[in-house]
Formats: sequence, C-alpha cells, structure tokens
Amino acid sequence: MLFQNQVVVVTGGGRGIGAAAAKLFARHGASVVVNDLDAEPAESVIAEIQSAGGSAFAVPGSVTEEGFPETLLDAAAERFGKINVIVNNAGFLWDGMLHTMTDEQWLRVLEIHTFAPFRMIRAAAKHLREPAKEELKAGKPFSENRCIVNVSSTSGLHGNVGQANYATAKMGVVGLTKTVAKEWGRFGVRCNAVAFGFIDTRMTRAKEDGESIEVAGHEIAQGIPEAARGRAVTGNPLGRPGTDEEAAGGILMMASPLAGYVTGHTLEVTGGAGI
Ligand SMILES: NC(=O)c1ccc[n+]([C@@H]2O[C@H](COP(=O)([O-])OP(=O)(O)OC[C@H]3O[C@@H](n4cnc5c(N)ncnc54)[C@H](O)[C@@H]3O)[C@@H](O)[C@H]2O)c1
Repeated sequence: MLFQNQVVVVTGGGRGIGAAAAKLFARHGASVVVNDLDAEPAESVIAEIQSAGGSAFAVPGSVTEEGFPETLLDAAAERFGKINVIVNNAGFLWDGMLHTMTDEQWLRVLEIHTFAPFRMIRAAAKHLREPAKEELKAGKPFSENRCIVNVSSTSGLHGNVGQANYATAKMGVVGLTKTVAKEWGRFGVRCNAVAFGFIDTRMTRAKEDGESIEVAGHEIAQGIPEAARGRAVTGNPLGRPGTDEEAAGGILMMASPLAGYVTGHTLEVTGGAGI
C-alpha cells in the first residue's frame, strides 16, 4: 500500500499504460483521477477500480485544450482534498518520414507530448509547489509525497525512423523533467520521467488492425506496421514487448515514496533495449 491516502492524477488513463497505471495505483491504496480524451474507456477503468473497492473518478477531456489542465487538477483537488502525484501520460503518434512531414503533424505531436505536460505542470504549481512552500515558510517538514512523472520514450532518447516529431517531443519532456526537478526540488517536489521501449498497447499494435484517434478533425491511424513490430524487439535482451502493467510498474516506482531521493531521472523501461 505504497500510495495509501495519496491522490494520483493520470492523463490518458483510459487505455494502455495509463489505464494499467491507474489500476495499479488504486491497488496500492491511492485515490485515482482518470483523465482521457475518450469518456467511455475512462469510465470503464473507474468502474473496475470501484468494483475492486478502490476510490476513483473520471474527468474526460483533452489535455491539449487551453484551460483544461486547470479544470482537471481543480476537480481532483476538490474531490479528494489534495494532489500527490501527476502522471503526464496522454499521447498519440502521427508518424511520417521527415521529408514529407507537415507542419501540423509536427505541431500536434509536440503539443500533446510537451506543451500539454508543460501546461499540466504549470497548473500543478498551485497543488504541489504552493502547499510545500507554505510548509517550508512555517519551518515544517514536508507533509506529503509530491511528485510528477512524465512519460518519455526510447524514440526520444535514441531517435526513431518516421518519428522526427515524436522523438523531439519525447526528448523535450526529459529537459522539462530536469528543469522542474531543479526549480521545485527545494519545495520537496520531485519530477522524473519514464522512457518506455516497446510496450504492447494500441499505440504499438499492428497498424493493419485499423485503430485510430481523432485529433483536430484528422483521423490518425495508430499502431506500427507489422514488419516494424518484429524489428522492435530485436536487440532487446528480454526479447519481447513489455506489458502495460510492466510499464505501469515503472511509473509507480518513480512516484513511490521509496524513490523519495530520486528526481530529474529518466528511468528506462525497455526490456534492456539501448543498453
Ligand atoms: N506503447 C509504447 O510502446 C510506448 C513507448 C514509449 C512511450 N509511450 C508513451 O506512453 C504513453 C501512453 O501510450 P500507450 O502506449 O498507453 O497508448 P494508448 O493509445 O493505448 O493510450 C493513450 C491514451 O491517451 C489518450 N489521449 C490521447 N490524446 C489525449 C488528449 N489530448 N487528452 C487526453 N487523453 C488523450 C488516448 O485516448 C488513449 O486512451 C504515451 O505518452 C506514449 O507516447 C508508449
């Protein structure tokens, strides 16, 4: 029960890694706020958590919408009284070779993977930095585990064919993570990143399955071509994709009080890819 009496907000928590993280946090005692662009999957994660005796509610909406991060975090704090952990996980791919990539393809991917986490963290100042600052001023020890986990990728750390936009965004979030660690460290607020390798979710299933996401009027195919899926596990010592629950484990590790002296770090959860 590493997160007993803690409040966790997970963006993009309706599917894949975010859904697995929301459920795992709840199993470890947290009250969980699940955001997703799509209300239905978010509600079904909530139903699962509640039927297992956990405490959770959904705040559907897009983290890229101006003002939504404030709405989401205020709703979480209003319902549960405080916020301990924020997981910036929401995301999608809009792949293409660099020489044919449009400005919009570039901007939308940076928007979801770096601009939205920036806005979420700025909105979180009120809930994480401010109460800690008050405690500091009063000469009191920090009373809560307060931290942010940003989701990065091996594409950010190493680059990836067809993902100039995504690789740039996922490296950007590492710089953001280190900066928040430096700015908010004195208030006891930790900020870490988790860079995933090949995790089996909608994002990495065969593109041929026909999954898609609607972004700003575009129907964008999700997944990677079947041939590339095979290559994705080559050079990965564990020789297989990770599960969403294994990925969630990395997020909980960094958020946990057991990592209380870890900040500004990027944990690679990759089955050893890239070592
Ligand atoms: N699957 C992998 O191999 C892998 C590898 C590296 C990094 N990641 C990262 O992990 C995170 C989770 O991805 P996943 O693999 O679980 O994918 P997924 O498609 O299964 O889940 C992503 C979720 O984010 C939601 N989402 C998308 N745009 C949103 C928005 N604007 N506002 C709110 N929610 C939004 C989607 O609706 C979806 O439910 C992403 O940031 C992704 O880039 C995944």
